[in-house]
Amino acid sequence: MIKDLFIKKTLAQLDEEANSNKHGLKRHLGLMNLTLLGIGSVIGAGIFVLTGTAAQMHAGPAIIFSFILSAFGCLLAGLCYAEFAAMIPLSGSAYTYSYATMGELMAWVIGWDLVLEYLFSTATVAVGWSGYVLSFLADFGIYLPASMAQSPFEYDQAGWHVTGAFINFPAVFIVVLLTALLVVGIKETVRFNNITVVIKVVVVLLFIGFGLSHIHPENWTPFIPQNTGVWGHYGWSGILTGSGVIFFAYIGFDAVSTTSQEAINPKRDLPLSILFSLLVCTVLYVGVSFVLTGMVNYKELNVAAPIALAIDRGGQGLRWLSPIIKIGTIAGLSSVILVTLLGQTRIFFSMAHDGLLWKCFAKTHSKFKTPHYSTLITGFFTALMAGIFPIGLLGELVSIGTLLAFAIVCIGILILRKTEPDAPRAFKTPWVPFVPVLGALVCFIQMLSLPIDTWLRLIIWMAIGFVIYFGYGRKHSVARKRNR
Ligand code: ALA
Repeated sequence: MIKDLFIKKTLAQLDEEANSNKHGLKRHLGLMNLTLLGIGSVIGAGIFVLTGTAAQMHAGPAIIFSFILSAFGCLLAGLCYAEFAAMIPLSGSAYTYSYATMGELMAWVIGWDLVLEYLFSTATVAVGWSGYVLSFLADFGIYLPASMAQSPFEYDQAGWHVTGAFINFPAVFIVVLLTALLVVGIKETVRFNNITVVIKVVVVLLFIGFGLSHIHPENWTPFIPQNTGVWGHYGWSGILTGSGVIFFAYIGFDAVSTTSQEAINPKRDLPLSILFSLLVCTVLYVGVSFVLTGMVNYKELNVAAPIALAIDRGGQGLRWLSPIIKIGTIAGLSSVILVTLLGQTRIFFSMAHDGLLWKCFAKTHSKFKTPHYSTLITGFFTALMAGIFPIGLLGELVSIGTLLAFAIVCIGILILRKTEPDAPRAFKTPWVPFVPVLGALVCFIQMLSLPIDTWLRLIIWMAIGFVIYFGYGRKHSVARKRNR
């Protein structure tokens, strides 16, 4: 009985599943599209919103080091994802990798945990999208009734309270719109993503390029402000804490691995696109934080739209960039919502294929070739959450969920190198065991730096997951049935 909980899928079974056409998805994605999907789901609220907060509250201009540090942690996990993605080209990402290395129960735990990374971050970013769209409309004198422009609940140090609003309508609107696009097809989805990614990357480059000539080097002195005696408040501990905060900005590069079954050449293109998107985003993030902290003193950066503030400070010569930055941000956030939503639907799809979730999640539409039920149900819950919950509460859960998934993927590499040392690997994580061990450690340390409330919520979330697994998944597991 207990042994059943740790039943594994063999690499041969996974390979057979990946090569079978029975899953109903279409292989449309090449290296370029995959890389753009990665960039699409990474550059968003993190860089456009959190950079300023992290600079003012924790690291000062040395936020640049925080970005490099966080990128290093992500690179370690990214290298492990790359090996798995090339080896097991199925759409479940970390969920599927855990099935092959740690067995069904752990796979379920990770699959359920990934909901925090994908579904919750989609809702978080949708709330951010709403904020930017409302401010953009306000520039043209267009205002939405207050009852439809905010979540009905707020959560702060005093606890929960009602805001008097009815629903965050723009947040619901964007989720519904992008859900519809996802149902219609992967080709249409990718086309939309490519356009929005180009817009946001161009906007980021414009900011870096034009901002350079408005830098006041005195803003970089001191580059690493002296620690105030409180852990995480400037100094080296501030750089470390800052890297935990802006970790959110890197979340999403792994989303590429949820589209494995739609990739034309997954074994070659998945590892490359994971690493390329991480590289491009790191370079852009370091560039933005360099220019931002050079244009505005870090002590003034804790605002909702730090990049817009820097543009305003740039004076008349930069004013024309202001609406363009807003459009770029809105485009950027749209692609994050789209790709994370896509990732969630594909993970549910894989879990349902294994019998751990209801069968409807595994159905594909006969004409659109997309998992339409999985998409509609995911879209429904995401819209609901985006419509009623505030942004802060969702964000921290996303980070803890993602860090747990990254740590498990790193540990998975160690296990698979032991259990399947000779299996063909199209991409090999370098310096094993150093890279995965350090990767898991870095993730774990970052998890420890998150507030205790977040841990409690993670535990509650997992308890709900266990109820579903023991109530449904365990009884319907395909792997268990096959083993009988
Ligand atoms: N990395 C994504 C963002 O910053 C989640 O919006």
